[in-house]
Amino acid sequence: MNIIRRITLATGLLLCLPAWAQEPIVIKFSHVVAVDTPKGKGAEYFKKLAEERTGGRVKVEVYPNSQLYKDKEELEALQLGAVQMLAPSLSKFGPLGVREFEVFDFPYLFDGYADLHKVTQGPVGKQLLQRLGSRGIVGLAYWDNGFKQMTANKPLRTPEDCRGLKFRIQSSKVLDAQIRALGGIPQVLAFSEVYQALQTGVVDGGENTASNIYTQKMHEVQKYLTVTDHGYIGYAVITSKKFWEGLPADIRTTLEQAMEDATDYVNELAKKENDDALSAIQTSSNTEIINLTPEQKRAWKKALLPVHRQMEGAIGKELIQSIYQETGFDPSKL
Ligand code: LMR
Repeated sequence: MNIIRRITLATGLLLCLPAWAQEPIVIKFSHVVAVDTPKGKGAEYFKKLAEERTGGRVKVEVYPNSQLYKDKEELEALQLGAVQMLAPSLSKFGPLGVREFEVFDFPYLFDGYADLHKVTQGPVGKQLLQRLGSRGIVGLAYWDNGFKQMTANKPLRTPEDCRGLKFRIQSSKVLDAQIRALGGIPQVLAFSEVYQALQTGVVDGGENTASNIYTQKMHEVQKYLTVTDHGYIGYAVITSKKFWEGLPADIRTTLEQAMEDATDYVNELAKKENDDALSAIQTSSNTEIINLTPEQKRAWKKALLPVHRQMEGAIGKELIQSIYQETGFDPSKL
C-alpha cells in the first residue's frame, strides 16, 4: 500500500470514530488535602478504577493540596467547567447556597462512623445530595474523613480554656456558632492558609481531624491537641450536571460503579488513617495529646450541645429531626 493511500485510510478511520474514541475524556479532580489522607487516597483509587475500567477512554487528573484551587475557588471552577470533580468538606457548601449540609457540623451529633453511615448511606443523605441539583451539581457520594480534635498553644482541657482564643474554622455558620459557644473567636480561612496562620499567630488554634493536622504539619506549630471528637469532617464528591449528563451512558455507568467502589475503599480506611495520624503526632513529641476524663468530656458536650437548638432556624428543624431519628440521638440531652 502506498503512503498516500495509507494516510487516507488512517484519516478516514479516525473520522469515522466518535470524538471520545480519539481523545480520552479528561476528569480534573481537584482537592485541598494531602495525597496521604482518606480523600487523597480515595481520589487516586477512583482514578485507577475509572481509567482501568473504561480502558483508557477516561483519564482522571488528580490535583491535590490546593495545587489548582483553594476552597472557594474550586467550587467556582467546577461551575465554570474548569474542573470536573471535587470533594469539598460538607462544611463548605454554604457559599453555594446549600446550608443543609452544615447539619453534619453539629457538635456531638454522631457517636461514631456507624452512626454517621446511617445518614450518609441512607435516604436522608441521598435527599441532601439531590438538593445540589438546583445548583447544576450532581452529588455522587459521601466520603469520610473523621472526627475533629481541638488544637492550640495552650492546653484546652475545659471549654473555658477556649475563651478569648481565635480559632480557624471552615466556612460554616454552625462552626461559627460552635466556636462562639466556647467563648472563642471564629475566623474563616481556606484550608491551604491554616498552617501559616497558626505559625504566625493570625489564629491561636484550630479544629481538624488528626489526618489533616498531621499531613499539613499543623502539629508542628501547635503545642497541644485535645481529643474532643466533637464534630465530623466528611465530603460530598461532586461533579457538574452538564458534564455528567454529557457523558456517553456506558461511561457514566462505569464511572458510577467506580465511584461506589472508591467510596467503600475510603470509608473503610478513614478511621485507621486518623488513628495512625494521631499516633504519629504523639510520636513526633512536639505536641502534647490531651485525653479528656469522662467528666471533662461531659463539660464539652454541655457547652456545645446548645448549638443544635440555636441553628434550628438556619438548618431546618425537619432535617435535624430526621437525622436524630436515623442515629437515635436523644434530643432530651440538649
Ligand atoms: C478543612 O478545611 O479543614 C477541611 O475541610 C479540609 C478537607 O478537605 O479535609
